[in-house]
Amino acid sequence: MSYDNILVEQRGAVTLVTLNRPKALNALNAAVLDDLIAAFAAFEADDTQRCAVLTGSGEKAFAAGADIKEMAEKPMADFYREDYLSKWYSHFTSAIRKPWIAAVNGFALGGGCEVAMMADFIIASDNAKFGQPEIKLGVAPGMGGTQRLTHAIGKAKAMEMILTGRLMGAEEAEKAGLVARVVPQADLLDEAMKSATLIASMPPLGAMANKELVNAAYEMTLSQGILHERRLFQILTATEDKAEGMAAFIGKRDPEWKGR
Ligand code: CAA
Repeated sequence: MSYDNILVEQRGAVTLVTLNRPKALNALNAAVLDDLIAAFAAFEADDTQRCAVLTGSGEKAFAAGADIKEMAEKPMADFYREDYLSKWYSHFTSAIRKPWIAAVNGFALGGGCEVAMMADFIIASDNAKFGQPEIKLGVAPGMGGTQRLTHAIGKAKAMEMILTGRLMGAEEAEKAGLVARVVPQADLLDEAMKSATLIASMPPLGAMANKELVNAAYEMTLSQGILHERRLFQILTATEDKAEGMAAFIGKRDPEWKGR
């Protein structure tokens, strides 16, 4: 399948998706969203694909936000009738059960920062800049920024960034817990692909279950989350991959996962 606004490539068991509107700093308009929904649904449905990487084309931006030109003239009734931005939540969170990584090069602002935070984790290039500058446009983040940024870096820093619109550099973002790792810009894609390839080599049901459990920490109380974890642990013991993983360990050989 071909797309107008993104590039999609399968590299072994990893799907690499690249936002591809470099002249608009990969701003996220409705057409980009439709392409991403289709590409991620295809990734999710393809048993040969076990991890995805989302990045931005060009050296300057991962994505500079929702498309301001698309929003500028749109009447409020349309935003409300379309339930504008709702698909980002319904199609990029619980709908994607396989792991995916955001490889953030350059600006990740507004919706760009919010999409990066939807990923299971972020690897950033040393020139990455994160921010939720929507206040300067007379609006607020609309794709989860106020919630996910606050969970990631705490109220003080999130509130300061959201109220002032200031951008956070990669080093500060790593220290604050927003990104997993910072790498030189030239190595970003290789490093993200290495992580994704490693994840893709894990047992697929285990990857899915572990992702679900970490995400449950956002939604559940401690005791509910721990119970959910114990139950999924117990369920995984019935898989063929559990038998294979433990036999391979004891037999001092590499496991061969079946995804069952
Ligand atoms: N939407 C539409 N177009 C955008 C854009 C956006 N979010 N961000 C950048 N562009 C376009 C610019 O209009 C410009 O296009 P033209 O060449 O046709 O004029 C092109 O990309 C290059 O941008 P700049 O000339 O501005 O580049 P710069 O290097 O001077 O500045 C920048 C870079 C600081 C990222 C600046 O572009 C900027 O501030 N962008 C907007 C960031 C922003 O406010 N994002 C939040 C959007 S609202 C949102 O996302 C709501 C939500 O929560 C869902």
